[in-house]
Amino acid sequence: MVTVNTFKENKGKKKMTMLTAYDYLTAKNIDEAGIDSILVGDSLGMVMLGYPNTLSVTMEDMIHHGKAVVRGAKNCMVVVDMPFMSYQASKEEAIRNAGRLIKETGCQAVKIEGTYFDYIKAITDAGIPVVGHLGLTPQSVNSMGGYHVQGKSSEAAKKLISDCIKLEEAGCFAITLECVPRRIASYITKKLNISTIGIGASNECDCQVLVWQDMTNYGNTKPAKFVKQFANLYEEEQKAFKEYKEEVENQTFPSKDHTYIMSDEDYHEAIKDFEE
Ligand code: KIV
Repeated sequence: MVTVNTFKENKGKKKMTMLTAYDYLTAKNIDEAGIDSILVGDSLGMVMLGYPNTLSVTMEDMIHHGKAVVRGAKNCMVVVDMPFMSYQASKEEAIRNAGRLIKETGCQAVKIEGTYFDYIKAITDAGIPVVGHLGLTPQSVNSMGGYHVQGKSSEAAKKLISDCIKLEEAGCFAITLECVPRRIASYITKKLNISTIGIGASNECDCQVLVWQDMTNYGNTKPAKFVKQFANLYEEEQKAFKEYKEEVENQTFPSKDHTYIMSDEDYHEAIKDFEE
């Protein structure tokens, strides 16, 4: 089973993989494919619940989906995102909510966006493994003025590097770097003793993460620059749905193979009392 120790052991030696999942079956399929880790991302707000961003996602949403994922993941390490306003207001609330995610879902770690160093230290001191998240942090979409590459200027890159070092000092066992230039992601990965998990942060990171619906084109949306579509599930599913409709309408489905049969004798016996 993949644990925080696997991240430590593989640092600088073996690249690791992470995908998002939000339900039992997807988690089971990801696990069976040998992916190392699953993130129950607050991206579920968009891809599962149809919100325009992650801001409306609640602790209850994360717990509901996190529980289902944990039931499907046997070998994968499961990390659950702390949703917007579940940790920003106070250290106490941050510890309590991190604890709820661990206790109520059975996941092994939580992920927190931003530079809440003291809160993260308190959570890791309570024995809860934390993944940090810097670069593009979608919960701050309003203050960032949209979704853009981060750390591009020397000033911004300097702050990013310094924040990553502080997150390591606060006890994070890994840091997600989202939409960060390759050279900076590479520098941070070499500088830190903990793993970097890249999304739009080049192949220099120790681990890669993608939203599963993006990398399979399940949602048929225009992919971000950093997304590679490894399959086209939207097309496959559309084909299946349309063939189903056609076959029902022309009565080729259900065929004999999909139909239960009864003997003449039993049939006549069953209906005889209802006949004139
Ligand atoms: O919520 C999420 O899916 C994430 C990944 C994009 C890293 O945070």
